[in-house]
Amino acid sequence: MDYRSVFLLLSVCGLTRAFTMDLDYGGVPLWINRFLGEPSVLTLKDRIDPGWYRAVNTQSCPLECDCPIQWPTAIYCDHRGLNQLPSGLPFRLQYLFLQGNNITSLGSRAFDNTTYLRWLILDHNQLLSEQLDNVLFSSLTRLVNLFINHNNLTKVPAGLPSGLKQLRLAYNHIEKISEGDFQNLDSLTLILLQGNRLKTIEEGDFKGLGALNLLDLSHNFLDTFPKHLPPSVQQLYLSNNSLTGLSENSLHGFSGLRYLRLGHNKLRNERLDPGAFNLTSLVELDLSYNRLTEIPSVPITLQYLYLEVNHIQEFNVSSFCRTVGPTSYSRMKILRLDGNKLEYHKLPPDWVFCLRVLHNIYI
Ligand SMILES: *[C@@H]1O[C@H](CO)[C@@H](O)[C@H](O)[C@H]1NC(C)=O
Ligand SMILES: *[C@@H]1O[C@H](CO)[C@@H](O)[C@H](O)[C@H]1NC(C)=O
Ligand SMILES: *[C@@H]1O[C@H](CO)[C@@H](O)[C@H](O)[C@H]1NC(C)=O
Ligand SMILES: *[C@@H]1O[C@H](CO)[C@@H](O)[C@H](O)[C@H]1NC(C)=O
Ligand SMILES: *[C@@H]1O[C@H](CO)[C@@H](O)[C@H](O)[C@H]1NC(C)=O
Ligand SMILES: *[C@@H]1O[C@H](CO)[C@@H](O)[C@H](O)[C@H]1NC(C)=O
Repeated sequence: MDYRSVFLLLSVCGLTRAFTMDLDYGGVPLWINRFLGEPSVLTLKDRIDPGWYRAVNTQSCPLECDCPIQWPTAIYCDHRGLNQLPSGLPFRLQYLFLQGNNITSLGSRAFDNTTYLRWLILDHNQLLSEQLDNVLFSSLTRLVNLFINHNNLTKVPAGLPSGLKQLRLAYNHIEKISEGDFQNLDSLTLILLQGNRLKTIEEGDFKGLGALNLLDLSHNFLDTFPKHLPPSVQQLYLSNNSLTGLSENSLHGFSGLRYLRLGHNKLRNERLDPGAFNLTSLVELDLSYNRLTEIPSVPITLQYLYLEVNHIQEFNVSSFCRTVGPTSYSRMKILRLDGNKLEYHKLPPDWVFCLRVLHNIYI
């Protein structure tokens, strides 16, 4: 788990007593809204005595599962070696936990009787795309979170319900997105697709996503910066691919992009247009573990820049400030340059006038 994303979410969402979070589920914490009655995301396995809950709980509960009395609309069937969905799931069910089982397929009518479902958590199973029916999820009109991280999917599931807010498909075997996979998903704010086998993104792939905020495409096989990404994205993660550069207009249209992660790629200055990061909305830019020899030009509004483990040999203040004056100075707070060929005592004397609000510099 990358703890930076936790801080990031803390700063984006603010922390109130009504919310708690968990670090599982594909690396991005899941926020729980207690006012809505949302249950704990932590497994109950080995934490409660299932017999006790069964004794005090008058509602029907499948034998394979735990139905905690404090969350009457939640059922925990996680980590029990199941190879199919338990039968007799009650109609009232809103939160279904099925992670850590051995499920490879779900019948086309599996969710016919659970139309109130809001969360469906299927992480760490072995679901196969060819065994998932096209209409499997489409009747779940109240579904907001669908998590299928760490499975064997080769495609994005079809017929996703239009109220979906979070779709987590990290660590599957998805090679290609098809046009229309995300059609009509106007409420979707988060898609995790890291750890798949994507090579390219085609023009219509993300069509129809007007509210998308976070898109994680890290750890795929992308060798060019993808075009045609939804312009509403504020957090774009492309670490651990094979990107070599960015053109002048790679980030055109992303007027709200705040967090861009490009670490662990093959970025070189020759392939990086000098205006590539000229985007005043950027707050954090991660370019660590690349092949840069110079510090690229970044906007003065940038606050966090990660450049550790590159081949940088010179520090030129003009990367951060085109001019230095009362209001024209870099807003940089954290600058990481460790693991390069730079030495602190060789920094040009004028750097402190430009980077005047810096909290930490690592060299
Ligand atoms: C899945 O099944 C295999 C063999 O059938 C078993 O060894 C393994 O423990 C099961 N996994 C889980 C998570 O129950
Ligand atoms: C749904 O409910 C009907 C009627 O109670 C039952 O016959 C059917 O088996 C149920 N389907 C599932 C998938 O549980
Ligand atoms: C799922 O993929 C894993 C490797 O990632 C493999 O070991 C396993 O056999 C696959 N399961 C199925 C049902 O194909
Ligand atoms: C990228 O790869 C490195 C080295 O293999 C690994 O340490 C890191 O966790 C990966 N990061 C992501 C976001 O996948
Ligand atoms: C950055 O963009 C602004 C307009 O948004 C433009 O005026 C400026 O010349 C650009 N700078 C570079 C270095 O491309
Ligand atoms: C810093 O970069 C600017 C613009 O690229 C260049 O004109 C200047 O000579 C560089 N300064 C040093 C000390 O290399």
